[in-house]
Amino acid sequence: MKLLLHDAAPTDTASLGKALAACLDVGDLVFVYGPLGAGKTTLVREAAAALGVEDPVTSPSFTLAQSYHGRITVNHLDLYRLERLDADDLAEFETYLYGDGITFVEWPELLEGQARPTVTIRLEHAGPDRRKIEVEGEITARLEAMLGDPGPGHRH
Ligand SMILES: Nc1ncnc2c1ncn2[C@@H]1O[C@H](COP(=O)(O)OP(=O)(O)OP(=O)(O)O)[C@@H](O)[C@H]1O
Ligand SMILES: [Mg+2]
Repeated sequence: MKLLLHDAAPTDTASLGKALAACLDVGDLVFVYGPLGAGKTTLVREAAAALGVEDPVTSPSFTLAQSYHGRITVNHLDLYRLERLDADDLAEFETYLYGDGITFVEWPELLEGQARPTVTIRLEHAGPDRRKIEVEGEITARLEAMLGDPGPGHRH
């Protein structure tokens, strides 16, 4: 099952990040695809904040990965600069994947075939501040219910 947001404004991306946080659990692996500036880091930042991470999530430019500690550990990997995955990279990746956190991977192409993501997210530009966002994985039904329901305090 897929969840598709055709025309997500920044607030919609933020809501998706928060809802994602509520649906993910330790051991989950999230592949986040999309071109430069699509909003991958923005989405991970929103999810991490909702998981209690207080440090700002930035792009781990000169390292493969960064771990953040909120109510739960959030690992953020960005493989943009990696040309290929050697044995050391793979071993490092596995320490995150099999550790006690949730792992988000931007530019995950090199990991395809090495690990199965529990959730796959694809972002595309759809205007200066609009994005098309597709989410695939077992959590999508729950995610859709959460996003469609503004929650307590918003009912009339
Ligand atoms: N609807 C939207 N959803 C998400 N981000 C948006 C949206 N509209 C505008 N933006 C802006 O687009 C930019 C996305 O930057 P971000 O660093 O998250 O992209 P990225 O996909 O991680 O890029 P990179 O490939 O360089 O890592 C931010 O400045 C964000 O504010
Ligand atoms: Mg990024």
